[in-house]
Amino acid sequence: MTQITIRRPDDWHLHLRDGAMLAAVLPETTRHFARAIIMPNLIPPVIKSTDAAAYRDRILAAIPEGDTFEPLMTLYLTENTDPADVRAAHADGLIKAVKLYPAGATTNSASGVTNFDNVRATLETMAEIGLPLCIHGEVTDHDIDIFDREAVFLDRVLDPIRRANPGLKTISEHLTTKDGVDYVMSQDNAGATITTHHMIINRNHILAGGIKPHYYCLPVAKREEHRLALRAAATSGDKRFFLGTDSAPHTDGAKLAPCGCAGCFTATNTMSILAQVFEEENALDKLEGFASLNGPAFYGLPVNDDTITLTKGDPVTYPDHIPTPDGPVTVFQTGSDLLWSVDT
Ligand code: NCD
Ligand code: ZN
Repeated sequence: MTQITIRRPDDWHLHLRDGAMLAAVLPETTRHFARAIIMPNLIPPVIKSTDAAAYRDRILAAIPEGDTFEPLMTLYLTENTDPADVRAAHADGLIKAVKLYPAGATTNSASGVTNFDNVRATLETMAEIGLPLCIHGEVTDHDIDIFDREAVFLDRVLDPIRRANPGLKTISEHLTTKDGVDYVMSQDNAGATITTHHMIINRNHILAGGIKPHYYCLPVAKREEHRLALRAAATSGDKRFFLGTDSAPHTDGAKLAPCGCAGCFTATNTMSILAQVFEEENALDKLEGFASLNGPAFYGLPVNDDTITLTKGDPVTYPDHIPTPDGPVTVFQTGSDLLWSVDT
């Protein structure tokens, strides 16, 4: 097969930032994607419905002319979140999910949750109204090895949350382990996003033969067996797994530093990379499910009406970086030519 037409994809986990960065990176998403779940980890975070409404308006104002794009807003869960505000924002159609960051787990997560007793009322409300909880699934304990933090989270945090809130729809974001895949497959009402880059890189790509800051993200890529489990899950057709790129722009200055930021920027070339991954796994017929159907089904939203066409041919050139007033943002590189081009 050298050409495939699929419904227009959505990105179920995306960082757009704000201001000049938002303006610079948004076109990279709207070119191919119809909708995206917008992460709320701004500084300060998007905590209240009024914050989400204002942020949505800034995103809408930055959409390039000619593109149609719907930002699907989220609220950042804190121990002070008001369940009534969440309920109202959901009833208005303003938000499509709430995001749980364990405090300190990743970029701008300082306002996240430490004591889960303090968010119980919000989680109960969400279960009642059918609003999904997007979860950054890593423990933050300093005595837990960074490569084990996702697996430990499943036992210590995710499973207790799910047992305490049987009706709550949870989405394990950016899965990086076979343990995570196995857990999601053992559950009802559980979904998971898988990123593009975690299907390409394992931890050797970050650390062997010199450190590669552009491959450093959180959760950090794990061993090869985990990468293979993620590819198998994404290409299996199992409706619990869908695309969330976690495309996370940081300038080169912020990445290439003694304490570099976590995040891979994949919005630009994700669809070409995915076509290659699904072709390699003999699963091109599953690409539409992963990128365009399973996400809306889990969120209870309609699928997109229009389509994109991917064609295999000569190598496709994408920019190495996206310029911003604060400096360039490097686009994720797989290390080999991309042969699938995208027509919209
Ligand atoms: C994200 C970011 O930069 O906001 N970074 C990352 O490595 N994925 C935060 C996140 O999703 O963990
Ligand atoms: Zn993210």
